[in-house]
Amino acid sequence: MASKTSTAQAGRGSRRGSAALGGLFWLLALALFVAPFLRERDNIGSYEGDFGRDVVADSETDKIDLPFEVDVANYEKDIAPGLGAHIAAASEQYFGLESPWLRDTGAVEFLRIPSGKQNFEIHCVGCHGATGDGGGPAARYLEPRPRNFRRGLFKFTSTDAASRPQRRDLFQTITRGLAGSSMPEFRLVNEEKRWDLVEYVRWLSMKGEFEQMMLDDAYENEELPDAADIAGIVIKRWHPANLRSIFPGVNETPNDAASVERGKKYFNDVAKGSCYSCHGSSGKGDGPTAGDYEDDWGYPIRPRDLTAGTFRAGAESVDLYRTIAAGIKGTPMGSFEGALKPEEIWDLVHFIQSLSKKELAQ
Ligand code: HEC
Ligand code: HEC
Repeated sequence: MASKTSTAQAGRGSRRGSAALGGLFWLLALALFVAPFLRERDNIGSYEGDFGRDVVADSETDKIDLPFEVDVANYEKDIAPGLGAHIAAASEQYFGLESPWLRDTGAVEFLRIPSGKQNFEIHCVGCHGATGDGGGPAARYLEPRPRNFRRGLFKFTSTDAASRPQRRDLFQTITRGLAGSSMPEFRLVNEEKRWDLVEYVRWLSMKGEFEQMMLDDAYENEELPDAADIAGIVIKRWHPANLRSIFPGVNETPNDAASVERGKKYFNDVAKGSCYSCHGSSGKGDGPTAGDYEDDWGYPIRPRDLTAGTFRAGAESVDLYRTIAAGIKGTPMGSFEGALKPEEIWDLVHFIQSLSKKELAQ
């Protein structure tokens, strides 16, 4: 019974994979075609299209719906007259690239922005969209969806649950890509340009988070939000000084049979994080609650099949340690820092590595 389910799952996975590959060429062509129009819209500088309500996909028709323009109109009428213009002006004042305020915070490396923007428009808009809302022209064909940067929420980070990502987390994602998703690796883009891209993604994300918070605040309080307050909160969240990193508390313990055995025991232990409840005791991603989850962007999400050896955030011991300790933000895979001792996390890492090795050996 269990093996029947997992075969069906594997089949579905590979069909999806080849469909995604097959579609990639013309998706890129489409992206290249549409990019100039997006740039034009961006240059106009009007607030239309700059408000990132989350991209909502209708699972029946697979259509992406961008409700933000409608929303602003409704908010204005019902909640706070002048809201749209207020947010547009505040966004320019606090997060515009000419903003002296933003410059003084020291949270953004301005020198990197022009090149970051240029490279983002060449390599990234087709999927992530000009405003970073994850709604690029290719997005509707992709699963998982390209990230919407406008919520400040990133999955693969070395920081604790409350912190925004470090620059080097984004750098790693951009450099290596995310295995098992359509997010490509950009090793061939030179290193300086990848850092420029990191800075541009950070800036898009701060600006988006600010606009989103302004909108949410207006909705909650039914009045024009206090822009200075909200800008201050966003900058605090992103300031490198406020990002708490999760580092391995001890060096990697020996990766031997005893460690794998302990890892297996913890994996199936309710008191040690209940990994099995989502990932299944054999790690196939078929635990009792596996079908129950959505991610914070509103899409269904399944626990990973850990026997496949495909790890988005990397398969090295230190990568897996980071994933287990920091969790995957915005998904049901929480952070286990504190709940597990560092040496227990290393045992889990070794057990997980043994699962895909076993699979390959068969
Ligand atoms: C072909 C589509 C595609 C292109 C092109 C693309 N991405 Fe992505 N990107 C994705 C997908 C899909 C995800 C989400 C994967 C997931 O949720 O696991 C993603 C996620 C990300 C993330 C979030 C990682 C996290 O921790 O949440 C960052 C940052 C990112 N991409 C940056 C970029 C940059 C910068 C470029 C251009 C240099 C780029 N992407 C180009 C598809 C793409
Ligand atoms: C509540 C459900 C849940 C629990 C409990 C859980 N996970 Fe996960 N895990 C997930 C989901 C969902 C994903 C896939 C996230 C994604 O697609 O981005 C995942 C992904 C992973 C990955 C893949 C990371 C990558 O780079 O692709 C690893 C490794 C992992 N989990 C290990 C563990 C370990 C070890 C435990 C127990 C300490 C655990 N998980 C507990 C839901 C869970």
